[in-house]
Amino acid sequence: MKAMIAAATAAVAMMASGVAMADPAGDAVALVKSSGGDCLVCHAIDHKVVGPAWNDVSARYNGDIKAGKTTEAKAEDALVEKVTKGGKGNWDKVTGGMSMTPHPSKPSNADLHKIVKLILDLKK
Ligand code: HEC
Repeated sequence: MKAMIAAATAAVAMMASGVAMADPAGDAVALVKSSGGDCLVCHAIDHKVVGPAWNDVSARYNGDIKAGKTTEAKAEDALVEKVTKGGKGNWDKVTGGMSMTPHPSKPSNADLHKIVKLILDLKK
């Protein structure tokens, strides 16, 4: 009986850690904070702030990937470039025409790639 309880406890612990590992939203927020990014001033995962909800960004580009309009690697590169240089025009209907400020140095290019990848993972 004790062994069964121990096995069941271990299984639950493994399941819990499995869920924690697949948490792109939590990982994205943590990485934005640790990399010194100001993204969360204008973005949230599930609702528009100044910029579009990252869930909506993810849904749009995953739709394009599934439709064969782009690839995951191309979408990642394009979004990293957009965040680095700043810009507007892709989300005017959502934002009313607001622009994103450029982010040339913070987060680093490597961290920005990871953050964008996590955003794309939100609605895979
Ligand atoms: C000053 C506010 C602001 C900040 C700070 C900001 N964003 Fe944005 N973001 C926006 C706006 C506004 C848009 C919509 C731009 C458009 O319409 O093309 C946007 C769009 C995006 C998009 C979608 C781009 C596209 O072309 O579809 C991504 C991805 C994104 N932001 C990620 C980030 C990340 C990562 C950071 C932090 C490094 C960040 N943003 C910081 C305002 C901001």
